[in-house]
Amino acid sequence: EETAKSGYDHYMLKEIHEQPRALRKCLRGRVDELTGAVDVEALDGLNPSSVQFVACGTSYHAALHGASALREAGVHAQAFLASEYATAPAPVTDDTLVVGITQSGETADTLSALREARKRGVETLAMTNVVGSTAARECDRALFIRAGPEIGVAATKTFSSQVVAANLLSASLAPQSDAREVVEALRDLPGQVQEVLDSSRAERVAEQFLDSEGYFFVGRGYHHPVALEGALKLKEITYKHAEGFPAGELKHGPLALVTEETPVFALVTGNGTEATKTVGNVKEVEARDAPVVTVTDGVSDVERYADAVLEIPETHPRVAPVLANVQLQLVAYHVAKKLGRSIDKPRNLAKSVTVE
Ligand code: AGP
Repeated sequence: EETAKSGYDHYMLKEIHEQPRALRKCLRGRVDELTGAVDVEALDGLNPSSVQFVACGTSYHAALHGASALREAGVHAQAFLASEYATAPAPVTDDTLVVGITQSGETADTLSALREARKRGVETLAMTNVVGSTAARECDRALFIRAGPEIGVAATKTFSSQVVAANLLSASLAPQSDAREVVEALRDLPGQVQEVLDSSRAERVAEQFLDSEGYFFVGRGYHHPVALEGALKLKEITYKHAEGFPAGELKHGPLALVTEETPVFALVTGNGTEATKTVGNVKEVEARDAPVVTVTDGVSDVERYADAVLEIPETHPRVAPVLANVQLQLVAYHVAKKLGRSIDKPRNLAKSVTVE
């Protein structure tokens, strides 16, 4: 087992560090660097009028990203928690596509939602890491994320690869005016992830806020799923209370919980409207004496209000969340390590959840 960890203390850390390689594999042979065109065999001939994603946990956060990317490209798209999909079924038409995002391809809730979709007569696509998994076998099509085996219960590299694959899906289904820019950003992403891994101050931040009562994560737009993911990762492996919100929702309730004992991790990139609004939310939090940790590319002035800064390189807004998330993976890992938690096998959790 020690050999399999290649010198890392935990599979989770090894898998975090495998992300540059995993992302290169996910992209290999799938994009034309000159035109920005995406060429993925599994997606050939697909032209759905609407897309419904179904997924659980971390994969659901990737689904939220995928749905936003498709909507931005003008395709009607929604993300559903797989366990809720059948409760009040969203309308489908003959050309709806249901995409199950599942790392393992064996999650019972996701398989059940995909079976429900098949019963309704719509086409299904499995976006999965495991060739030969139940999801891959049962769906009409399979898009493999090629992240390589993930042993740690906490999903890390598979999330990044799912987000990249979701961008490939969205670029393939709908022509996008910024296709070239996105492809260039995706091509630079593995190197930028490596930069984050080489320079991250996440361990210091983990030390600084180890004894906190609770942790909040906020982000807008494409950073919203990463706020949710940052909180999920932290609670999963540290057993600390953590919540993620769309930044704009803080003032609609959660702000009541914000004190000097609750660090707020704010994801802010660029200096557009979304960044400006999130900086406004950061000011509200700072006024309540909460420590602010910002994950930022340094373009806005958010650092002025922050107690700690986790830097990421500048990139396209649809790609930045992957980089921001790497910093949050490292924070969760280092908090868990300092607390002596069972990082690769957290209590009560299984890598693949095969019951509904
Ligand atoms: C993530 O860290 C969790 N272990 C969990 O939320 C996981 O993403 C979820 O159970 C879905 O798994 P899947 O991708 O294999 O379907």
